[in-house]
Amino acid sequence: MDCFVLMLFGTALLGLYGRQAWIEEAVSTFEDMPRKSLVTWNSMISLLGHHGFVENSMFMFRDLTRSGASLSEWSFVGVLCGFSCKQDLEFGKQIHGLVMKIGFICEVSIVNSLINMYVKCASICLAEKMFEEVPVGDVISWNTIIGALARSERPGKALELFSKMFIDGVLPTTITYVSLLSCCTGLMIPFVGESIHANIIKNAFESDVFVGSALVGFYAKCGKLELAHCCFNEIHERNVVSWNALIFGYSNFCSSGSIFLLQEMLQLGYQPNESTFSAVLKSSFTLELQQIHCLIIRMGYQTNEFVLSSLITSYAKNGLISDALVFVTTFDSPLPVVSCNITAGIYDRTGQYNETLKLLSVLEEPDTISWNIVIAACARNNYYKEVFELYKQMHVFEICPDNYTFVSLLSMCGTLCNLALGSSVHGHIIKNDFNRCDTFLCNVLINMYGKCGSIGSSTRIFKRMTNRNLITWTALISALGRNGYAYEALEHFREMELLGYKPDGVALNAVLTACRHGGLVREGMELFGQMKKCYGVEPEMDHYHSVVDLLAKSGHTLEAEKMIASMPYPPNATIWRSFLEGSKRCGSARDKMK
Ligand SMILES: *[C@@H]1O[C@H](CO)[C@@H](O)[C@H](O)[C@H]1NC(C)=O
Ligand SMILES: *[C@@H]1O[C@H](CO)[C@@H](O)[C@H](O)[C@H]1NC(C)=O
Ligand SMILES: *[C@@H]1O[C@H](CO)[C@@H](O)[C@H](O)[C@H]1NC(C)=O
Ligand SMILES: *[C@@H]1O[C@H](CO)[C@@H](O)[C@H](O)[C@H]1NC(C)=O
Ligand SMILES: *[C@@H]1O[C@H](CO)[C@@H](O)[C@H](O)[C@H]1NC(C)=O
Repeated sequence: MDCFVLMLFGTALLGLYGRQAWIEEAVSTFEDMPRKSLVTWNSMISLLGHHGFVENSMFMFRDLTRSGASLSEWSFVGVLCGFSCKQDLEFGKQIHGLVMKIGFICEVSIVNSLINMYVKCASICLAEKMFEEVPVGDVISWNTIIGALARSERPGKALELFSKMFIDGVLPTTITYVSLLSCCTGLMIPFVGESIHANIIKNAFESDVFVGSALVGFYAKCGKLELAHCCFNEIHERNVVSWNALIFGYSNFCSSGSIFLLQEMLQLGYQPNESTFSAVLKSSFTLELQQIHCLIIRMGYQTNEFVLSSLITSYAKNGLISDALVFVTTFDSPLPVVSCNITAGIYDRTGQYNETLKLLSVLEEPDTISWNIVIAACARNNYYKEVFELYKQMHVFEICPDNYTFVSLLSMCGTLCNLALGSSVHGHIIKNDFNRCDTFLCNVLINMYGKCGSIGSSTRIFKRMTNRNLITWTALISALGRNGYAYEALEHFREMELLGYKPDGVALNAVLTACRHGGLVREGMELFGQMKKCYGVEPEMDHYHSVVDLLAKSGHTLEAEKMIASMPYPPNATIWRSFLEGSKRCGSARDKMK
């Protein structure tokens, strides 16, 4: 290895430079070198790729090909390692073409890099094709493709390949089994999991901690706690993942068991983590709660937001709302997640306005946070009179409302479709302090005005905003769609995409709903078809509901029926209603035409 390569590795390992500074330094040192060996080129290409500088890595690769040097397999492996998203797919295909042209397709390391590249660039079909077509392949190729399929929408295919593996004489490894078990756990197919278990025993993998933990997780998910426990006992060197897998199982089916396991875990000297605590808390009752709370404090997890909100939810579920509230009000970390979960907890169990109001009087000095919690709890329960009453009371007690208070009020106005009330809350916000109207609150305002039918106000707020985010765009698209501006909603969706926002499930449902209200069948179906392929979003019930309604309402009864049949879960009553109403309407239209 030459000095430059050593320097590169040194720099990469030290990581002292900022990313950008590092790359500039590395590239300029490289360029100044009088004689560059192939090893140096390859190291540079691969380091750039590994550190996420895909384009630079690609340019470097091009320079290398242009220099007329003969490429080695590591040039390809190096450049391919960087490709990791959809945008890189075209580059990847070009490299694939070059590999074919040069005749490197029998190099197993290149083949594996190509398969891996296709998987990472979200083109599982191309990865599969590659895997099937190439003459070479080793256990890494099998694991890559099985792992990718197990995570895909066709996990069954992973199981199918697994049986072919033996025919090809390739022996599975830990990774193979872990992928397969996660696939069985997801599909909830006990008998397949059991046959894989048998195979694991045959190949003596049951004591491996990764395979063993995956087995425990699998049986625990299926509710077979005894088998889960047996597999757990087989593991030679357990870790927190194995313990958690078992504890999760018990917390779902047998709460006292999970607490007992936590104690055992501690006695044996294992360190629980946040997931352990939240699993145990999920199922614990009043008496155990205090005990676990002490433990959490002793182990220093009381400031972990994840543990904290599980703890509060658990208190609230057990009717110990005052404990929960006191606890929350003494805790001064970011509120959003925790407060949502507390209100969820309060709402779960009691959700009674009188109960919650009483709590305010129990607290010695209720502050904005505790008022917000109570107001949010009432808003969730649709106690709208109480929400506004509490808001008034807040002023009487000279407690300042903040943006969370306004979120509750505005969501109430939206639910009630009460524009006058909503506008007056908006007025209060402005009067209180216009600076409060940050992105977060403006998004809620756009939503509220959209729900109340005042699309002009929604657009005005949107236009005035300086810091928009995905939620802002979604709120506007949803408001436009709701008010019948389907084309405008689509246009904004396209604009949002152009600006580089990656739509999520909620944004996609907003635009699908717009198509549905506007009867834009072609556009809606096109978007729906692209959901998984282009946006990487698995369609959920809401999305199916939107397209079924869209199809049914526009007279495409057959397609609507097909769509329902293709759903991965049973359609619910709402979907059937949309379908029936749509086909009834079209049926009667047809009757009239006769
Ligand atoms: C805790 O353990 C779980 C496995 O059960 C793991 O997924 C999680 O990442 C761990 N959390 C931390 C903070 O290490
Ligand atoms: C809060 O609750 C939601 C759903 O109720 C859950 O998805 C989320 O993980 C919880 N957050 C924490 C920090 O526990
Ligand atoms: C709260 O208490 C009042 C009277 O004390 C009662 O009229 C009202 O129905 C109660 N509200 C709820 C939600 O229980
Ligand atoms: C709530 O408003 C305050 C200013 O009053 C602001 O600093 C804070 O970031 C806002 N919170 C959120 C989540 O937007
Ligand atoms: C059916 O699913 C849709 C979409 O998730 C939901 O809006 C609706 O409330 C559900 N209906 C019933 C009856 O559960």
